[in-house]
Amino acid sequence: MKNQAVYDELVAKFEQHFGEKPAAVAYAPGRIEVLGNHTDYNEGYVFSAAIDKGTFFAVSPSEDDTVRLVAGDLMKEVSYKLADCAKRDEDTWQNYVNGTFNWLFDGEPAKAGKGWKGMFLGNIPLGAGLSSSAALEMCTALALCKIYGVWKDGVDLAKIGQKAEHTFAGCPCGLLDQASSLFGKAGGLVKSDFRYCTFENVNLGPSVAFMMVKSNAKHALVDGAYASRRQACEDAAKHFAKVLRKPVTHLRDVSSAEWILYRDGLDEIQAKRAIHPIGEDERVLAGAALLEKGDVKAFGALMFDSHESSRNWFENSCPELDTIVDSAKKIPEVYGARLSGGGFGGSCCLLVDPSAAEKIAATITADYKAAYGDEPTCALIEPSEGAHLV
Ligand code: GLA
Repeated sequence: MKNQAVYDELVAKFEQHFGEKPAAVAYAPGRIEVLGNHTDYNEGYVFSAAIDKGTFFAVSPSEDDTVRLVAGDLMKEVSYKLADCAKRDEDTWQNYVNGTFNWLFDGEPAKAGKGWKGMFLGNIPLGAGLSSSAALEMCTALALCKIYGVWKDGVDLAKIGQKAEHTFAGCPCGLLDQASSLFGKAGGLVKSDFRYCTFENVNLGPSVAFMMVKSNAKHALVDGAYASRRQACEDAAKHFAKVLRKPVTHLRDVSSAEWILYRDGLDEIQAKRAIHPIGEDERVLAGAALLEKGDVKAFGALMFDSHESSRNWFENSCPELDTIVDSAKKIPEVYGARLSGGGFGGSCCLLVDPSAAEKIAATITADYKAAYGDEPTCALIEPSEGAHLV
């Protein structure tokens, strides 16, 4: 099993803290976003992968209506009565778990009848843009479904996690992070279509790997920059719905050719924001055809284009991420590089020749250090199996 040591530590801590064995344990991985940035809430396409790091959630039913939740790394406990399940301003890690619990019971957690004792522990670096929060939501959802005997399909679970983000964590995200954590496949990518909520596994082929490079720029999506990007996309879609003679509900319905011809009427910011997901959708579809032919180098070139689009149009990059991508571009064994996830900090995702991993990490680290004085963290990522009960 992946991350066995984390599992063992969690189960031991659970037994010690609650004096019993957990009745259920679930695991959910983080994710990398490979191509298709800010397309999910525009009903578009994404290539992503579940990663080899994740979070475990262990849980047992309570005798009464009390919930006791422990963050296994801090060994800090919070507790509340079912009827008091709500967004909290302190110990904000609890919001991902409690929000998931809340929406598993349609916003009426008192309906659960009895509470639970839960503890979570994981090894996804926090603030790296690897969706540690979605992983926490998905392992919580799976483990709670098990002890309450509730059945939900993957799309339902992803939507429950998304609602937890919207209402308990304050991030108006799409479905990408939760879906990638659920539908990941060992050795492959997930190609998602967020209009129809379909998730397909695509093989990457041999001799290529992903490397994540974590900048030290803080990544936070709850400070309004994410929300304002989403709003601009939705406003732009309304404009195109008026001027195009076809049904448009989301930017998914607009091509880059139509953006060129019909963007008059958008303000400058709306126009810049809109072309990013429109171009990303086109890149994902082109990338799918390239992967089918086994042309990973051309696929990688689309990743570089994606980053340029983030940098110039969506303005969700930052100097640290640009430095990493610029450095990666000079290395022949790097086929593609771009920011991964929301942006504004966090990590870059590189498509690389794994036999050159050391050289790549050394070059990027040296360039980053020369610019900022500190070192980024480089790690090869193994696309891995999605969330499951242990
Ligand atoms: C964050 C959000 C996702 C998605 C990405 C950008 O990870 O949580 O829903 O919008 O940013 O593609």
